[in-house]
Amino acid sequence: MTTKYELKNTQTGKATLLDAMSGTIGPDVINIAPLLKEQGVFTFDPGFMATASTESKITYIDGDAGLLLYRGYPVEQLAEKSTFLEVANLLVYGTLPTKPQLDAFCSSITRHTMINEQLLRFFQGFHHNAHPMAKVAAVVASMAAFYHDSTDINDPRHREIFAHRIIAKLPTIAAAAYKHSLGQPFVYPRNDLRYCTNMLNMFFAVPCEPYAIDPIAAEALDLLFILHADHEQNASTSTVRLAGSTGANPYAAISAGVSALWGPAHGGANEAVLDMLEGIGSAANIDAFLARVKDKHANVRLMGFGHRVYKNFDPRAKIIRGMCYRVLEKLGRTESPLFELALRLEEIALKDEYFVSRKLYPNVDFYSGIIYSALGIPRSMFTVMFAIARTAGWVAHWQEMVSDPHMRIGRPRQLYTGPVKRDYVPIDGR
Ligand code: CMC
Repeated sequence: MTTKYELKNTQTGKATLLDAMSGTIGPDVINIAPLLKEQGVFTFDPGFMATASTESKITYIDGDAGLLLYRGYPVEQLAEKSTFLEVANLLVYGTLPTKPQLDAFCSSITRHTMINEQLLRFFQGFHHNAHPMAKVAAVVASMAAFYHDSTDINDPRHREIFAHRIIAKLPTIAAAAYKHSLGQPFVYPRNDLRYCTNMLNMFFAVPCEPYAIDPIAAEALDLLFILHADHEQNASTSTVRLAGSTGANPYAAISAGVSALWGPAHGGANEAVLDMLEGIGSAANIDAFLARVKDKHANVRLMGFGHRVYKNFDPRAKIIRGMCYRVLEKLGRTESPLFELALRLEEIALKDEYFVSRKLYPNVDFYSGIIYSALGIPRSMFTVMFAIARTAGWVAHWQEMVSDPHMRIGRPRQLYTGPVKRDYVPIDGR
């Protein structure tokens, strides 16, 4: 039997019964659709603190238990046993692929890694020190102009070609953005290399000498990408869904997601964490820094801490912290002052009443930048790396939405607090 919730207008006594809807796991949601018709009211939930914006079968998070499932599989298992492309396939298609399916997917991704030569020229129009996220957002949006032959969102094959193209080309676009910032020649993708190995080659190879790709770096990158691949209805994914709900071409929707990810409250936090650690400088300054964080007027946050959903621990942060030790050791970096500082900062913050009472724990971005740095990836590229991984999730969510026959445009309402209707006053009468 469906649970009902009653919403009653205390002045008129008029009541509306609202149905609870159950998912496979997680709290029920209340279907508020009848409220407007029956009570003439909207609901108010700035920041979507308590609102499910959609139904989805892709990713599940239990913030209290620190649980993250992609299509039902715990992220810890995928991090240990899977690869990024297998996870991308899982997210997009819904089931773990068979060997032939995975081989076909990897082969298709590999053969879509080149970008149109004209797109490459776009980079010459940017200032050399433009932030790579600005370049990536612009170039991804421009892809619609180059691949417009296959952007019929109602055609499943077109959707699939788009999915493969964007997952395949994002690393190439990212590498082009990086090479442009260095003033170095662009390095073309190589089909004999795997996804992350190819990416490292495009980032770091130069025409004048051989480049030895470090398998440890490729492995670390692959693991980081698995952990960043999806996170249900986060801000950038919701942005992709909202932009896509208008029927906009999918490259425009992904570009909107890249832009939303850039903010420091979201994917931009990984870059901000390293800025913060460098600003703190040494363990001796941690207390003074935390005092500023706790001062409401200082407008300073402990970056890489806190999460809208995780209120106990972020399982991704746990894996990445463990990975930091392994990567630094394997790379022969026995001393990493920034990692030491981050560990000490975490230790102190986790004992501090301010963070304990607000359930603020390290999130995925607290340690990821330390690994990216150790791999030689510059700070301004950290959020781009996040975008490459999250593209798999964005694509899966966009696909899920547009293939739903009940898709409708996302169009929130508001509580209007501006002036009531008034008459225009000519300029000399004001
Ligand atoms: N440092 C200091 N105080 C914090 C922090 C922080 N990092 N995060 C939250 N708070 C405080 C906040 O001031 C508020 O205190 P009070 O109740 O006294 O006003 C309380 O905790 C609740 O915070 P909120 O801003 O209402 O929480 P939210 O769910 O809206 O924000 C968040 C979540 C991730 C934006 C926020 O925790 C934050 O800004 N963290 C730092 C940025 C960061 O690391 N972002 C990466 C998120 S994980 C990667 C991703 O998926 O995007």
